Amino acid sequence: MAEKKLLKRQWYCGAVGEAQVGSTITVYGWVNTKRELGGVTFIDLRDREGLLQIVVNEAFAEPGRLKEIGKETVLAVSGRVVKRARPNPELASGQVEVIAESIDILAASAVPPFVPENHAGVSEELRFKHRYIDLRNLDMQRNFKLRSKANLLARNFLDREGFLDIETPMLTNATPEGARDYLVPSRIYKGRMFALPQSPQQFKQLLMVSGFERYYQITRCFRDEDLRADRQPEFTQIDIEMSFAESHELFVIIERLVRDLFALRGFEVVLPFRRLPYQEALATYGSDKPDLRIPYTIKDFSADAAAWGSELLNAALAQGAKVKGLVIPAAGSFSRKQLDEINDAARKLGGKGVIWMKKAEDGFKSSLKVPPAAMAALFEKHKIASDALVLLIADAEPQALFLAGKLRELLGKEFQDKKKLEFLWVTDFPLFFYNEEEKRLDSNHHPFTAPRPEDIPLLASEPLQVKAIAYDLVLNGIEIGGGSQRIHDIALQKRIFQMLNLAEGEIEEKFGFFLSALTFGAPPHLGIALGFDRLLMLLTGEESIREVIAFPKTTSSLCLLTGSPSAVSQRQLDELGIAIKK
Ligand code: AMO
Repeated sequence: MAEKKLLKRQWYCGAVGEAQVGSTITVYGWVNTKRELGGVTFIDLRDREGLLQIVVNEAFAEPGRLKEIGKETVLAVSGRVVKRARPNPELASGQVEVIAESIDILAASAVPPFVPENHAGVSEELRFKHRYIDLRNLDMQRNFKLRSKANLLARNFLDREGFLDIETPMLTNATPEGARDYLVPSRIYKGRMFALPQSPQQFKQLLMVSGFERYYQITRCFRDEDLRADRQPEFTQIDIEMSFAESHELFVIIERLVRDLFALRGFEVVLPFRRLPYQEALATYGSDKPDLRIPYTIKDFSADAAAWGSELLNAALAQGAKVKGLVIPAAGSFSRKQLDEINDAARKLGGKGVIWMKKAEDGFKSSLKVPPAAMAALFEKHKIASDALVLLIADAEPQALFLAGKLRELLGKEFQDKKKLEFLWVTDFPLFFYNEEEKRLDSNHHPFTAPRPEDIPLLASEPLQVKAIAYDLVLNGIEIGGGSQRIHDIALQKRIFQMLNLAEGEIEEKFGFFLSALTFGAPPHLGIALGFDRLLMLLTGEESIREVIAFPKTTSSLCLLTGSPSAVSQRQLDELGIAIKK
């Protein structure tokens, strides 16, 4: 049978409004709901722009056909637009409805495993298995429209700023970004593997050596790492590199880009963003990605605690422990049960527990034996409100700060208003950390990150004290970007590789091409990559980046829709020279 000619569609369902009243139009869409009321059938037809009520009344020529129409059937409906007697303020098209004159069934639908409207009520497993239905949900459609607009906006913005969109290879060698690689076996060179890029880091630096000066790419990166709500094995970066510039110049560009992106949803972002050195972020918030919406910070109460006469605290302090505390506003009324829960949470995080103090009606109370006068003095000296709760953690300083930081996040949930945006640049990260497992120095970001010039003398004596010209962009406690000034001096780059315990042969094998490029006139350069999925998650107010990725993987790295990763045939394995270990 020849395909039936499609009627010409004039309007998206969701776009029909009062301006069309009186005209006869054709719309296409999926049946969202169908209900009968006293001989009249009401169909809510859905397309990417929204819903439109179709009325099939007794005058309809082919009433028998209505039986064939079920949920998710695809229809072409022609009819006259009329004003609704009872408008539906929930719908963009809610002032009007269409009186059906003809209905074409363009595609039948089996009974769907769930209806798009109710996708929140079904398991993620079911949603992912039938992702094409899940994506019909109008909030999902909105997310992907926004993603498309944001992508275009970023391209236009960066183009105006003189950045060139240049593609870099997907089949390449390992790029060190701290995760495991996804490997692709070579058929021609058996036993050799390509790696999918963890980022275009080295290529974008080479593009600077090539003289492009300003590069960007909105590109996929691949990392085999433990997944969380804000991590996927393949994700998208807005990747940027520029020559002959300093970090403050890059910050201005990124801040304006981010402001424009958030304006897409009506947010007014105030520039410039706050900046905080890494050490200060740790000392004040116990985190290198603090959520600044939570109004309280971490305080040092070590000096106060020394005067309380507690054997427990004195012993800890004598061993170099610190007493770090949080003053939680209006939490003095927490019940014993709530306080026990906080204590349990601290223990689960690896701590020894928390000490609490508060002022009750009948005087100061604490989980530790502290003289009431000392508690009164503490409240007075630190101007602690009488209805506040004081939580104290005594531990080695890094651990105490970590735990206080975690409790701050845990107890600060009530302040995490999605409409409020708190941006922060965290700067001056340490260049190295000590990798306990491998008993060597490791790069905090990647090995191409430049140390601060004033810290270069410390490379030999106190490498862990060396700070990098490295920065992260944080929004509401989530790292949305990271970058650095790069090393463009070959001697320094070689020295850093050596400090990371890479043998001469390994340096040559892995990075020979890169070091060679640095000998041929590499300009000073720096860059950043923004996590596009994370930006979208925050822009849409979603809880997970899976809601802004069309075909995401589960947290156990599976694609439930296609069943990947999957077994391959023996023939393919033979071709690749691969034997699977049992
Ligand atoms: P970095 O590793 O910090 O830097 O990555 C940049 C940003 O990418 C996002 N991101 C992720 N998003 C989703 N899933 C993941 N698994 C994931 N991993 C990272 C984060 C992060 O801030 N080459 C450097 C950039 C540079 O130095 O220019 C890099 O990739 O938002």
